[in-house]
Amino acid sequence: MLDWKITSRPIVALSPMADMTDAPFCRIVKSKAPQTIIYREMVSAEAIVRDNPKTWNMTTIHPDERPIVQQIFGTDPDVMAKAAEKIYEIMRPDAIDINMGCPMPKITKPGAGSALMKNPDRAQAIVRSVKDAVPCPVSVKMRLGWKQKTECLDFAPKMEEAGADLLMIHGRTRDQAYTGSADWNVIAQAKTKVTIPVIANGDITNAPSALKALEVTKADGIAVARGALGNPWVFTQIFTAFKKETSTDISLEEWKQTMLQHLLWHQERYGDPAVFTFRKHLSCYLKGFSGAKNLRQRFLSITDISLLQTELTHL
Ligand SMILES: Cc1cc2nc3c(=O)[nH]c(=O)nc-3n(C[C@H](O)[C@H](O)[C@H](O)COP(=O)(O)O)c2cc1C
Repeated sequence: MLDWKITSRPIVALSPMADMTDAPFCRIVKSKAPQTIIYREMVSAEAIVRDNPKTWNMTTIHPDERPIVQQIFGTDPDVMAKAAEKIYEIMRPDAIDINMGCPMPKITKPGAGSALMKNPDRAQAIVRSVKDAVPCPVSVKMRLGWKQKTECLDFAPKMEEAGADLLMIHGRTRDQAYTGSADWNVIAQAKTKVTIPVIANGDITNAPSALKALEVTKADGIAVARGALGNPWVFTQIFTAFKKETSTDISLEEWKQTMLQHLLWHQERYGDPAVFTFRKHLSCYLKGFSGAKNLRQRFLSITDISLLQTELTHL
């Protein structure tokens, strides 16, 4: 079980990404930087309570991924508590996180995700009931606000008061979705309003931006989402920078072996459709690679997994 009070500082986390931070990708990240804290992609509390097999499958944990935080989303405090309790009982994640940051209408329309920032009473009720339901730490992942960046300054202390053990703050509002840039200065202000640890998130893509975000926000840690896609080495680079050392470039061999290992674990988990579902990761690995456009076209047309493996091996 995680104890956020004593987790080594600065905390470095893989931020949750639906459809991306599944077990195979999380294992790849951990194989590069074992100190990274893994946030698993969000799962619907309703679906867990209804025992939807696909949703349950998303919560299985490989031992190499630990410590791992399982994120849930929903609007009903009782359902959220029941889902957290069931997940904890069966999968034993090291912590539970509550999604209060997702901007997607299909999540916010029923009042979940970032819509909870408009409804602090309900958000507090959720935190309280989830806290009562599980013995592990409960955190909240939030944005700066729904419309205004400063909404977090009232909202963050309310989450602490309700019992949250840690906050991860993405430095954008819901209205911004993923546009504009993350405002680390407002995260810094929010940090001064609470005594629980804060993880800063948004636009941290490499070691220099990780160091800068920590300097600006004075947060207890940082979390990387998009910058880790196709680049699990970003965490190694960040830990290396903490030691005031310089990272060496990734060799072609290391890059190839990582893609092949990722594909193998992806295939172990998803079976035959893996050749198709791996394409989103493959596109990310190929980004910035010389000749990427042609390679992407070639690889993304392959429908046989052993052929894809052979092609990657002979890159
Ligand atoms: C494809 C994708 C899926 C995401 N899914 C989730 C999610 O399931 N839960 C969540 O709290 N945030 C989710 N996010 C938001 C990220 O965790 C993160 O807060 C955001 O991308 C900003 O960080 P970044 O600049 O490092 O990408 C997602 C983002 C992306 C791009």
